Amino acid sequence: MSQQEFWNSKFSRDGFLYGLKPNTFIASKIKLLKDKSKVLCIGEGEGRNAVFFAKKGFAVTAVDASDIGLSKLKERAKEENLDIHTLCMDLNHWDTNEKYDVIVASYLHMYKEERTALFEKIEESLSDGAYFIGEFFSTKQVNYSSGGPRDEDLLYTVDDFKKSFLLCDKEINEQVTILDEGKGHQGEACVIRVVIQK
Ligand SMILES: C[S@@+](CC[C@H](N)C(=O)[O-])C[C@H]1O[C@@H](n2cnc3c(N)ncnc32)[C@H](O)[C@@H]1O
Repeated sequence: MSQQEFWNSKFSRDGFLYGLKPNTFIASKIKLLKDKSKVLCIGEGEGRNAVFFAKKGFAVTAVDASDIGLSKLKERAKEENLDIHTLCMDLNHWDTNEKYDVIVASYLHMYKEERTALFEKIEESLSDGAYFIGEFFSTKQVNYSSGGPRDEDLLYTVDDFKKSFLLCDKEINEQVTILDEGKGHQGEACVIRVVIQK
């Protein structure tokens, strides 16, 4: 099953799987960003981070493999009178030709073997001084039942980030936290939080 089929079936249900509020960690970093920054939200699903940044006046593009996730995002943006550019695409086929002031990702479950290329494309797409901010499930999340994949190849280690983004400043923390993100993420979880600056 492709990522699109898998996520379309999840997002076809009523409501917003991860809720309406942005990811708390990503939202807490908004103070790092200059007004009207150009934001790219990758693996953005139903659009909770994209809506948050658009409401704050940022120029937002959201990318996801799921057309159903993105159509829910567009419907919500229309209701809230927000302008959000969307691209339906598998990130393995991302052709980087634009630069962004910030790239964000919450719970983008890419396979281990896809990550080196993905991280290179993220780094390439950041303007000088720009940030990549993200929250991901750690490989230790297999010990928790608050959500996320059971397949270890879709979970992350601190080293995955350390060995990429070699020319960037990096803050990478693995920590146990409590998630309250819709039906999809509820309860104690082990996550990796990154703030990477080019
Ligand atoms: C757990 S959901 C998180 C959605 C959103 N970031 C959030 O936190 O609400 C994972 C998202 O990543 C997207 N995704 C996974 N693999 C992808 C890929 N290879 N290319 C594009 N999107 C992908 C899925 O379609 C899905 O929307």
